[in-house]
Amino acid sequence: MAILAKTPPMGWNSWNTFGNNINEELVKSIADAFIQRGLKDAGYEYIVIDDCWSEKKRDNNGRLVPDKNKFPNGIKALTDYIHSKGLKFGIYSCVGTHTCAGFPGSFEHEFVDAVTFAEWGVDYLKYDYCYKPRNVAGEDLYKRMALALRNCGRNIILSACNWGNDGVQKWIRESGCHLYRSTGDISDNWKSIEGIMLSQLNNACFSGIDCWNDMDMLVVGMSGTGENEHVLSTGCNESEYKTHFSVWAMMNSPLMIGCDIRNMSEQTAAILTNKDIIALNQDIEGRAPYCIRQWNNLDNVFSLIKPLSGDASTTGCDYAVAMVNISDVKAEMSLQFFDIGLPYSSGLGLEFYDCWKHEVIGFFTERASIDIEPHECRVFRCKVKKV
Ligand code: GAL
Repeated sequence: MAILAKTPPMGWNSWNTFGNNINEELVKSIADAFIQRGLKDAGYEYIVIDDCWSEKKRDNNGRLVPDKNKFPNGIKALTDYIHSKGLKFGIYSCVGTHTCAGFPGSFEHEFVDAVTFAEWGVDYLKYDYCYKPRNVAGEDLYKRMALALRNCGRNIILSACNWGNDGVQKWIRESGCHLYRSTGDISDNWKSIEGIMLSQLNNACFSGIDCWNDMDMLVVGMSGTGENEHVLSTGCNESEYKTHFSVWAMMNSPLMIGCDIRNMSEQTAAILTNKDIIALNQDIEGRAPYCIRQWNNLDNVFSLIKPLSGDASTTGCDYAVAMVNISDVKAEMSLQFFDIGLPYSSGLGLEFYDCWKHEVIGFFTERASIDIEPHECRVFRCKVKKV
């Protein structure tokens, strides 16, 4: 059986900025922007349309029908366009009778929908949890769609979206989904980002190869804009968006962009295409980070430590280290290397390469003490070296 999600999927999803207002021209221009703004080169691959793409009724054969005004040429024409750019296409449905916005869901239509999606050239299915029959376990409903997709004749990634309900971490890998949403919906402000981040620190261990914990689509670059009132909010400053991107990357979350990439600023593009950060997320070993809190500032400052596949030409082991300060004042993070298995007596230290400044900042033994601005995240790729 093919592994379809060796590393966390990367792409763009229509929901955060456009909500209900999606159409063929928009999606095509997003595909063009993937190429023009360097997103494809940075590793972004999937273009996903979310809820609100279909007619309200199935056709006489029980098949889903694309909205005739939004997608006048159907979905196949659109996937052909996207594939011609070397990109992949994702669509949206729901385990229940209806989607969250009230369009037809796939309950009891799983097999015909999977075949329809395959015929249209779909590569990715986001599968939501609204209007779920109360007496059927979510696990069974995700298994049902996973089974249908495995038998539809095309490789289609299954992206579950049950907002972390029903202890999803415990059963989702066995259901055959490749990623799963673990929180309620994000909105474009710091409190939302902070809440999602803190809620998932203890769940990092459930995220791994071929079944990734999806902390929701990114709001990087939305800056208080967009047409979706569910997500629209005050926006964040640049440092907060960098923290958001860094932590999602470190936590092995899929990186699904949510802003309007056609009009994104150079600053936003620089965040989203930071190859040093993306490399941590896409590390081939897919290992989860563990969390070490600042010993005298437990609630506000912590480090995420993610072992990387490293560089076999040296010691063969790198660590990604992200240091986060969620408080409103500048703070110190002192990472004691003893806590990550490198006591002074080992004769080893760490060379810190700053993944936002793109430079080596120093070689440390015993500990590294770093100042972090409010809401900032410093991210380092650390090489183990002999003292
Ligand atoms: C929510 C989901 C959002 C979006 C929305 C569409 O349940 O979490 O990401 O898909 O439905 O109606």
